[in-house]
Amino acid sequence: MSKVAFGKTPDGKTVDLYVLQNGRITVKISTYGAIITSIEVPDRDGKLDDVVLGFDDLTGYLGKHPYFGATVGRVANRVAKGKFTLNGHEYTLATNNGPNTLHGGLKGFDKVVWKAEELESGDGPSVRLSYTSPDGEEGYPGNLSVSILFTVTADDKLKIEYTAETDKATPVNLSNHSYFNLGGKNSDTIRDHEITLNADRYTPVDDTLIPTGEIAPVADTPYDLRKPTVIGARIDRLQNEPRGFDHNFVLNNPDGKLTLAAHVYDPKSGRVLEVSTTEPGVQFYTGNFLDGTDKGKGGVAYKQHQAICLETQHFPDSINHPSFPNTVLEPGKKYSQTTVYTFSTR
Ligand code: BGC
Repeated sequence: MSKVAFGKTPDGKTVDLYVLQNGRITVKISTYGAIITSIEVPDRDGKLDDVVLGFDDLTGYLGKHPYFGATVGRVANRVAKGKFTLNGHEYTLATNNGPNTLHGGLKGFDKVVWKAEELESGDGPSVRLSYTSPDGEEGYPGNLSVSILFTVTADDKLKIEYTAETDKATPVNLSNHSYFNLGGKNSDTIRDHEITLNADRYTPVDDTLIPTGEIAPVADTPYDLRKPTVIGARIDRLQNEPRGFDHNFVLNNPDGKLTLAAHVYDPKSGRVLEVSTTEPGVQFYTGNFLDGTDKGKGGVAYKQHQAICLETQHFPDSINHPSFPNTVLEPGKKYSQTTVYTFSTR
């Protein structure tokens, strides 16, 4: 475990980068945005490469970008029209995605500086990042204390454990927005990657990507990813624009125990990523809105379908859908979610 200076925010706050490694994999985490800036893992020949999109320096992250590696909250994903009613009170959030609120609003958890504490847990090197979101921040009720423990384990897992507590009822839905390309930094799109999702159902959306409320079976649709599926060929069967997956899949995880959600394989490098989570859903997003304008690490222009996101979370707009799993955290209760990314090769 080591810590390096990453720079300063425009208002003068110091930002550090924590480096967690186990001798094979190295993960870097910035205190700005609790952002995972880099994950270096070996391919089948032992060659290391960085498998997440992002920038070489803090300046890149301070600019506008689509949440590369970021922690998203207080409510990840969309809230329809930026409005919800809780305990008889209507709350209004800033809208930052067409008519809706996305990933916490104008200044979400991806744009604040987190406090860090280095730990050497039994499992491996860890860093705990914490942030208290004040009552009314981005329109959300209650002071919410959030803590995230990132650990790199001896068996090549990156474990992320989130907890949160509030002093007023508030919706909470935390996730990480890493963009994975298992081919590494200079690789082409993820069209050749194979994906398997442990999901029998998904939540269909309207054209602003808000769930209609229906929970539909994936069987006999292009959303059936229960067997290893080449992503590019499957994207070509979709009808949405910009073309690609940007859907919440309902995980086969009825009791909220840590369960396998996704398996991703890159046949070229042999790298495998498995994602397990305690969450009921995963937003599978294939970088549909990337269009070459974001220039990332090494100046690479990130094009459409350059990477995939597997955002483990509660369903989009849950706060406005009583039939979806509950996202309201009450005072005196503890929010927790655990997601584990396991890296291997074949
Ligand atoms: C959303 C996409 C969005 C992306 C970047 C994903 O979680 O579902 O629609 O473009 O985040 O903001």
